[in-house]
Amino acid sequence: MTQELQNTSTGTLLKDLKMLLMKGELPEHEFSRYSEIISTLHHLNPQQEYKEEIQEMRKQFPAIGSDMIMQGLAFVKKHGYAGDYEIIDKIYTNWHSDHPEFRTWDKYFHSQVAPQAVRNRKTFFKELLLEISKENQNERIHVLNLASGPCRDILEFFDETNDLRFHFTCVELDPNAIAYAKNILGDYVSQVTFIQQNIFRFVPTEQYDLVWSAGLFDYFDDNTFTKILARFKNQKHVIIGNFSDANPTGGYMELIGEWYLNYRSAGKLRLLAKDAGYKKEHIRIMHEPTEVNLFLSIKQ
Ligand SMILES: C[S@@+](CC[C@H](N)C(=O)[O-])C[C@H]1O[C@@H](n2cnc3c(N)ncnc32)[C@H](O)[C@@H]1O
Repeated sequence: MTQELQNTSTGTLLKDLKMLLMKGELPEHEFSRYSEIISTLHHLNPQQEYKEEIQEMRKQFPAIGSDMIMQGLAFVKKHGYAGDYEIIDKIYTNWHSDHPEFRTWDKYFHSQVAPQAVRNRKTFFKELLLEISKENQNERIHVLNLASGPCRDILEFFDETNDLRFHFTCVELDPNAIAYAKNILGDYVSQVTFIQQNIFRFVPTEQYDLVWSAGLFDYFDDNTFTKILARFKNQKHVIIGNFSDANPTGGYMELIGEWYLNYRSAGKLRLLAKDAGYKKEHIRIMHEPTEVNLFLSIKQ
């Protein structure tokens, strides 16, 4: 550590972090201490001048550097990008390492608000589909899912309802995500059409009962957000998920996971929808119970 950094409170916090990591495990009574160190570091030093020190710690301590552990997997990005199908499905299924020490860190990871919000959005989507199924007498209900990832949500929906009137068209860029989803969907795979394509190139050619997207638009800048959203102007109902700017887990995601999102408030989402050409009276903002995953709903 440089002398300059050593003499600051950032230096003290880095030493505290190292001490925690040296213990190997993170018992529950240390959860709040770990959170405090991370959030104070993030707050005190938003330029992350301590990046090199953290990088050194990653080499030394598997807790923050190994992809065998949730927070390490977030950082390593073994599929080449943040928020891949593997980490998202491990969040959905509450995956914990078998290794007793790693397990304690995974317990911490899953107790954070952001992973809770991700699990809640799966429930939110399934409840939405259930509502549509109750309101709809049609023989076929067609949902367009943009950036579908692991499709755990679709699998659970079919398992829970067996409503085979539903057909999903999933646009997904990563072929490995599609292969993974096809595998977990089992027999329900016949209810799903996969289009392996970059969303930037996708233009809908039919009308769907619902257009859904979670975990995609929060990676877009505002221009891209409005440009892509505007392509769905002829659709009946569009719902776009975006993490809120009030995400209490943001510092942890950025410092430990190097996982960056474009956080947006409800007001900002309304504004972007208006910029994309939608009418004010058709726009509504919804959320899951933690209020961290917001949903821009446009029903026309
Ligand atoms: C955070 S995951 C969300 C998965 C799913 N929507 C969910 O909520 O469970 C993001 C997914 O978006 C896909 N993706 C990222 N950029 C994309 C793009 N430009 N076009 C299509 N898919 C994309 C990734 O491959 C990944 O599977």
